[in-house]
Amino acid sequence: MSRPILWMVAAPFLYWCSAAPAGTGDAAVGEDLANRYCIACHGPGGSGSGPVPPLAGMPAEALVRTMQLIRSGDRESATMGQLSATMTDQQFVDLGAYFSNLDPVVDALEAQRLHHVSARVCQWCHEDVYEQWSGSMHARSTALSDPIHELMYRQEVGDPRAENQVHQRAQTYPVCLQCHAPNAAQDGVTKLDAMAAYAEGVNCVACHRISGYKGVRREGGGLRLGLLAYETSSVLQGPKGYPFDQVRTPDSPHTGNPHIDKLDAFGQRVSASLPLEASPRILRTSELCLGCHHLRPNPQGVPLCATGDEFEASGAQVTCQSCHMPVVNGIAHHGMGGGHDNAMLARAVLLTVDLEPTLDGVRAHVVLQNKLPHKMPTGAPFRNVQIQVTALDDKGRILWQNYQQHAQKEAPEAYLFYQLADDQGQPAMPPEATQVGIDTRLDPHERRTISYDLPFRPAFVRAEMFYNLVFEGMKPRVLELTDDEELLQPRRMAFYETRYRP
Ligand code: HEC
Ligand code: HEC
Ligand code: HEC
Ligand code: HEC
Ligand code: HEC
Ligand code: HEC
Repeated sequence: MSRPILWMVAAPFLYWCSAAPAGTGDAAVGEDLANRYCIACHGPGGSGSGPVPPLAGMPAEALVRTMQLIRSGDRESATMGQLSATMTDQQFVDLGAYFSNLDPVVDALEAQRLHHVSARVCQWCHEDVYEQWSGSMHARSTALSDPIHELMYRQEVGDPRAENQVHQRAQTYPVCLQCHAPNAAQDGVTKLDAMAAYAEGVNCVACHRISGYKGVRREGGGLRLGLLAYETSSVLQGPKGYPFDQVRTPDSPHTGNPHIDKLDAFGQRVSASLPLEASPRILRTSELCLGCHHLRPNPQGVPLCATGDEFEASGAQVTCQSCHMPVVNGIAHHGMGGGHDNAMLARAVLLTVDLEPTLDGVRAHVVLQNKLPHKMPTGAPFRNVQIQVTALDDKGRILWQNYQQHAQKEAPEAYLFYQLADDQGQPAMPPEATQVGIDTRLDPHERRTISYDLPFRPAFVRAEMFYNLVFEGMKPRVLELTDDEELLQPRRMAFYETRYRP
């Protein structure tokens, strides 16, 4: 592909006129600006694209003066006039510092900078998906924005704003970032506020450049987790089967590649700066999720999360997307709810109560039917559920409850949790555990009945399930890291009340 290098012609002229740029530029600020405002047209890393000239390697002063000329209207630019009008000299200088420091790019596809593209770029044209994603845990997957993750990250690694952090036990690059901040992991960086695309965690390009799944288990035993389990592309991957090179035109609104919709003056196809490849084999299957969600053992090999193993054991034929990305208003919803999402939790378990008369009272059968092809609760090892069972008289007064304070001691049959243990079998936190202690969670599709004999005849029996993101003992420490008081409140995920009819 030949690229017009317009600035080489323009630059000498520009040096003769206009004032010197203000101050020195901050390349990091410039990079952030570039990722937000420039690269959708000028290509990742300013690598240029079709008729849009490359900016990588452009001398800082030439870039600043060009932007000033465009802003003042002395240089005409249909595409950039409005944008430049909203920007300051200092921003031009910062952009100059960034672009001038990049190696001039020969070919956009060689640039491999897709992983630096901020979700803000996609927001321009995908406002609805952007909003959904912003509310998801994927957008809050780093220690900069998830206090529960931050607590463990600081314990096991260190400061998410510092460079050269290592996983303290392993003394290697923190494996956490392979899943929680994959764009930073690609660059081997630990300073997560260095770039929007790092701080955004699992952002658009983190998923939409995944082109294949290698599996998390390496030949010979080891594991490759998160980003390392995938093949990635320098071209965006989409779920539909668009031919890569077919232009979308008004005559073919549903077939052409939507990211290749420009024709040049001669009617030739012009590649977009963010070309898109058809990749339904990965985007429409669970494999897209498994590299990050399959399993994760701690350094002693004890499984912390194993949603993928659970899913495989269930023999389910559905995909993760079928539940976690329902189609809403014609597009796959990117909110991807889980334990943080009350509406999602409400769909997990079918909870019912049957009452059977006995000689002097009733036997209450509380039936839990896990609707999911993974455990309930699944995921992080400190998720837990308590099932509160209450008998009431016909005035609604409480006659009996299966526990008062907490189910763990008072009604262990009504406590669904996963506890890791040390060598002595004592409860241990995820990093230190050497074995699985207790696992009372519901298995995939499991139907479980918990029965209570009541020596009296109540008017009503009520069952409620309360979901907790973390164990009680962890709550004070998490609350030191957040102002969100709702976060750790128990959530009532299911409720069923039945009247006793003799
Ligand atoms: C909507 C697409 C678009 C966006 C966004 C955009 N540009 Fe451009 N840019 C162009 C096109 C097309 C040209 C070439 C034609 C022209 O000069 O208008 C160009 C030309 C330039 C040039 C002149 C290069 C030369 O060789 O003369 C500079 C400098 C430049 N852009 C910088 C930027 C910067 C910095 C940003 C972000 C703040 C940006 N552009 C955002 C489309 C865009
Ligand atoms: C300049 C506008 C524009 C920008 C910027 C843009 N897109 Fe798109 N994209 C579109 C349009 C238009 C469609 C077609 C939508 C449709 O078919 O309804 C599309 C479709 C898609 C699709 C669906 C393709 C398929 O196979 O179904 C994906 C995935 C996608 N974009 C991802 C992204 C990502 C990720 C980014 C940011 C890195 C991005 N887009 C930035 C305009 C844009
Ligand atoms: C966790 C991974 C993940 C993230 C993060 C992600 N996507 Fe997607 N995206 C998918 C998957 C999977 C599909 C395909 C869903 C399907 O068709 O079943 C998809 C589909 C799409 C589509 C096509 C929707 C449709 O139904 O036609 C667009 C457009 C899109 N994504 C844009 C984005 C944008 C923009 C962002 C960032 C704001 C983003 N995606 C973030 C995984 C992701
Ligand atoms: C690049 C790695 C990666 C990929 C790919 C990925 N995820 Fe995630 N996902 C994460 C991380 C990391 C979190 C946890 C964020 C946190 O809580 O700090 C997460 C969180 C979630 C949650 C929310 C859990 C909660 O606490 O509420 C759900 C649900 C989820 N992902 C589903 C999916 C599905 C479905 C797919 C595939 C379509 C997918 N993810 C693909 C890394 C990934
Ligand atoms: C039948 C619908 C369904 C399917 C299929 C499904 N899930 Fe879920 N998933 C749910 C529901 C409902 C929840 C909320 C209950 C819970 O947290 O266990 C959930 C919770 C989660 C969570 C949240 C864990 C946490 O820590 O908060 C993750 C992660 C997750 N699912 C990943 C996946 C992955 C990966 C797949 C595919 C391998 C998948 N799910 C398939 C319905 C489904
Ligand atoms: C293989 C991918 C992967 C790796 C590696 C990984 N995580 Fe996670 N982590 C996830 C996913 C996916 C979730 C969310 C869904 C779930 O609960 O399973 C998550 C959730 C968490 C949570 C719960 C967050 C919340 O909001 O409740 C914590 C804490 C956490 N991880 C800490 C860490 C730490 C610390 C490391 C590094 C030592 C790490 N993780 C490494 C994938 C990973």
